[in-house]
Amino acid sequence: MLPKDCHGTPFLQLAPMEGVGDRCFRKAMASIGGFDEAVRDFLRVPRNAHVYSLAKGYEAEELGAIPLAAQLMGSDPELMAAMARQMQKRGAPRIDLNCGCPSNTVTGRGAGSSLLKDPDFLHEVAKAVVQAVTIPVTLKMRSGYEDTSLFLENLSAAQESGVRYITLHPRTKVDGYGPPARWDLIAEAKAYLKIPLVGNGDILTVQDALDMLRQTNCDGLMIGRGSIINPFLFHEIKAHFSKTPYTPTWEALLGYFKTYIAAIAPDMSMRVRVNKMKQLMSFLFKKTPALMERRQTILTSSCPDLDSFMEFSLPLLKEGLCF
Ligand SMILES: Cc1cc2nc3c(=O)[nH]c(=O)nc-3n(C[C@H](O)[C@H](O)[C@H](O)COP(=O)(O)O)c2cc1C
Repeated sequence: MLPKDCHGTPFLQLAPMEGVGDRCFRKAMASIGGFDEAVRDFLRVPRNAHVYSLAKGYEAEELGAIPLAAQLMGSDPELMAAMARQMQKRGAPRIDLNCGCPSNTVTGRGAGSSLLKDPDFLHEVAKAVVQAVTIPVTLKMRSGYEDTSLFLENLSAAQESGVRYITLHPRTKVDGYGPPARWDLIAEAKAYLKIPLVGNGDILTVQDALDMLRQTNCDGLMIGRGSIINPFLFHEIKAHFSKTPYTPTWEALLGYFKTYIAAIAPDMSMRVRVNKMKQLMSFLFKKTPALMERRQTILTSSCPDLDSFMEFSLPLLKEGLCF
């Protein structure tokens, strides 16, 4: 069924995406399925963190049978270790260390992608987390901070810290999300590392997934934005390998929206709910040129509540998807 030996990595992972890829989105995605694991968006571990309270933000059973890794972002080795222990206590199957977040409020404190400026420090933080727990620890990184001059040093530092595998999003912090992800760096990292490597960045279609596997030889794939645009993408990739046809249905998509809406916190105001749903729709309306044409209409609509917004947008989505 799998395209290759994944060397202990999950073949298909749902990427962590703070904001848009929150609990509501993950639960909705789980209602459709197709991915093997998910990574929760980062839990920030600031210098004066009270790890016990912070840890309550992670819920191991959130996605039922689908494992949900806890991602930590911080730079104090002792606090990160303490937080990792809390995650293990709360049932996390794995801890992922964030070495990629480009946000300045985060990098200002030396966490996220800032760790890529100093491979020795990255090693120290990762090792502290690895030694604190018995569950696997993994690390998700960009290709560098300003440039890729420390790329191989950072890969080595991560590998030598004892992490189980690395996920690479091959853009620098300075790149943000602008230029195309450099899959050649995934190939280079795969050839360089002894531990497995998960490739990530710009997979929007089944063909992209196949191309990344072929061009880089990576062990598994992580998909973020492509899965918001097309929640069926994981199933479609798996169907390619299992040679069992998979047909997305409108009913499954309606179930996806229903799950999403049911997971929205009850104390959220109607205006915030509508904006949240608009944000999700803004991705779904990127799937085809026909949907792209209607995207602005959806985004500028002024529906007073969620029901009227869904009544307005769903027929346009259905038509654009040709269900
Ligand atoms: C809105 C948004 C939020 C993100 N939040 C996180 C995060 O919490 N942790 C992380 O490691 N990466 C985060 N990322 C990066 C994604 O996990 C992923 O590496 C990136 O989007 C490239 O993959 P894609 O092209 O499949 O989306 C975020 C990306 C986006 C677009």
